[in-house]
Amino acid sequence: MQPTGDNPTPHRRRPRYRGTHPRRFDERYKELRPEQFPQMQQHIREQGRTPAGSHVPIMVAEVMDCLSPQPGETIVDCTVGYGGHAGEFLRRIGPTGKLIGLDVDAGQVARTRDRLAALGGRVSLHHMNFAGVAKALRLEGLADCDAIFADLGVSSMQIDDPARGFSYKHDGPLDMRMDPRTKRTAADLLAEMSFEELAAALEELSDEPEARLIAEAIVRQRERRPIRGTRELSEIVLAATGVRKPAPGSLHPAARTFQALRILVNDELGRLRELLRVAPFCLRAGGRIAILTFHSGEERLVEQAFRAGVESGVYAATNEDVIRPAPQEVHDNPRSSAAKLRWARRE
Ligand SMILES: C[S@@+](CC[C@H](N)C(=O)[O-])C[C@H]1O[C@@H](n2cnc3c(N)ncnc32)[C@H](O)[C@@H]1O
Repeated sequence: MQPTGDNPTPHRRRPRYRGTHPRRFDERYKELRPEQFPQMQQHIREQGRTPAGSHVPIMVAEVMDCLSPQPGETIVDCTVGYGGHAGEFLRRIGPTGKLIGLDVDAGQVARTRDRLAALGGRVSLHHMNFAGVAKALRLEGLADCDAIFADLGVSSMQIDDPARGFSYKHDGPLDMRMDPRTKRTAADLLAEMSFEELAAALEELSDEPEARLIAEAIVRQRERRPIRGTRELSEIVLAATGVRKPAPGSLHPAARTFQALRILVNDELGRLRELLRVAPFCLRAGGRIAILTFHSGEERLVEQAFRAGVESGVYAATNEDVIRPAPQEVHDNPRSSAAKLRWARRE
């Protein structure tokens, strides 16, 4: 609009969506602009969805029951993420306690540092893989801690951001690195792995029943041109499995392929094995560890490590039966549906 004679300040148009299919992450979600849409976050939570740019912590009450954080204690949150569990730890350990938080995602660490600082208390965050938990304690000048917690996998912020390439739901680069220092992206792995390696990964890391069909389709496609985008990969899987349009409410046919690739890119099982190996050395006598898992591969590793620890006398106790989220939590936050919680207590 042109300035008029009696209004010297030109009227500026409000920035808008470009058309009906916004391309940028922050254009896509109204809840990312609370100044414009103040009620949106609350509205989305009431619908049982997770507002973009945030993460709803899972099984908080159950985690607190297992770890029982006490005033003055030192807790290591190995996957600090958005800081949901960490905030509750802080509340319970009080000003004399200490929270050490780790995350491989540098952006996450920076944002969560600000968020937790607002809660007060002694907080120290490290951009670090939890396989290095013993090093984190050394950096803090500590020999051990009272409790260790890990909430495995990716956060909602990571899944929802198309630029990270974790989800078949949005088009983006096939990246999937939680830590930008990781050398190979998902696109690199798709280009390099042999047919047999791909099929084995799909079978072992995500129980994909059509592993060989999908691996075959990937190999065929990459002979024509490199596979670089999430939508492209999703379409390859849909074509290979013969599904044109996934039925509403059913698992998307590409979900398992994306999960297997993400686990590979971030060496998730290798890092978890290392955490489980060193954790007993990082806990004081009577110290507790709790781990939230989201798929059978990691669940098996945690169960085996805790049971073996009880048998060898490293741990005094572990849970017989896995702890699952309450039906109400699954209803309120469907992303909690696959969660399984296990704990162990140091001898
Ligand atoms: C499910 S989210 C944690 C959410 C957090 N509990 C909360 O309440 O906000 C998992 C986080 O762990 C991080 N992560 C995954 N694997 C990791 C690893 N091996 N070491 C450190 N952080 C890791 C991810 O970057 C992500 O931020």
